[in-house]
Amino acid sequence: MEKLAIHGGPRTKTNPFGKGRRFGEEERKLVLEALDSDVLFYVFGSKVKAMEAKMKEMYGVKYASGCSSGTAAVHIALGALALEPGQEVITSAITDMGSLTGVLYQLLIPRFADIDPETYNMDPASAEALVNEKTGAILVVHHAGLPADIDAFIELGRRRGIPVIEDCAQTHCTRWKGRLLGTFGDVSTVSYNHFKHITTGSGGAVLTDRADLEERIRLFVDKCYFRDGRKRNPYFLAPNYQMTELQGAVALGQLGKVQRIVETRGRLGARLLAGLREVPGVVPQKVPEGAEHSFFLFVVRLDPAAITVDMPTFCAALDAEGIPCEPNKVTGGMPVYRYDVFRNRSAFPNSKLPFVSQDLGSDVSYPQGLCPLAEEAFKHTFNLSINEFYTEEDIDDMVRGIRKVARHYREG
Ligand SMILES: Cc1ncc(COP(=O)(O)O)c(C=O)c1O
Repeated sequence: MEKLAIHGGPRTKTNPFGKGRRFGEEERKLVLEALDSDVLFYVFGSKVKAMEAKMKEMYGVKYASGCSSGTAAVHIALGALALEPGQEVITSAITDMGSLTGVLYQLLIPRFADIDPETYNMDPASAEALVNEKTGAILVVHHAGLPADIDAFIELGRRRGIPVIEDCAQTHCTRWKGRLLGTFGDVSTVSYNHFKHITTGSGGAVLTDRADLEERIRLFVDKCYFRDGRKRNPYFLAPNYQMTELQGAVALGQLGKVQRIVETRGRLGARLLAGLREVPGVVPQKVPEGAEHSFFLFVVRLDPAAITVDMPTFCAALDAEGIPCEPNKVTGGMPVYRYDVFRNRSAFPNSKLPFVSQDLGSDVSYPQGLCPLAEEAFKHTFNLSINEFYTEEDIDDMVRGIRKVARHYREG
């Protein structure tokens, strides 16, 4: 058997992975136009408006609003739905903290549903079990680039009269049964942070078809200020989540590229999936019928019945082969409810709001074991990096490296 690189054998990957630049002439031109206009405020400028028009056209939705981050976008969506303090928001045990920040700021109570153990997306049955008279929204996170079972969540929302928010931070231009994610929910959000398919450094957007949400979205972005000549008189609490013209300019350039980025990642990801089919013990995230995967991440589970070492040991060996493998980097290696802010119920200093409150009628905690499938998943899964600059040769090297390490740890 071939000696592992971690034991002094030859490395699998000897040449560097494909690299490329994310920004080019298009973004440079648009940013310079913004600067040359001498206006970087979205109300008076043209770039954020153009970016919003482009989002509307791409997604075929009636309203799009740029904002300062994906975290802001989710907060805006919650604010636009005018949920009342103390209402509950059901979401996935596996997501980024950015899905939850706005929930807590609005004094809403997060309720975490467990995941499907093969897709790592929220399980509709687990979500439904949490529905009660205090449920204000279902926040569906499409994890890692893979659509959640959005049909089931939309059906659940309709049946129980609960609005659905789609958090598409990790699924730009990704389709479920041929239709773009972000067009199913009452309101949807995207992120343009550094790690996403496309980026403005930080940025985001909110999409909706619901005319009744549009004004509140606009106001929630902007301190509840009317920007249409009406007298200034904020009537609810809203942050400043404005997108600047510089972000708008970069977003506009990036939106021109996103389709190609998603297609390229899809093609490379499919090649990696096909290669790993021949590697017993290494099980990629399941792609259900009807789902297109845009491979924000490539999630892999080790089958403990087949592989004789634990996930960190396997990853260290893979890393030594030259195949980047950073276990649990993205989520901190735990379901989001195990973060200190939930464990200690410490959203605000010297207060257990909104988790425990007489006024809100709340008393929730998030113990170990709350979502056993999510907790179990973190023991055995890791993420492989994949991006649009990789070549097919890079993918084949990844398969060879994984096959080598898996064979070693299957056979000892
Ligand atoms: C699913 C999800 N929701 C929300 C966010 C927050 O986005 P941002 O970092 O732009 O605030 C992220 C970012 O990682 C995310 O992955």
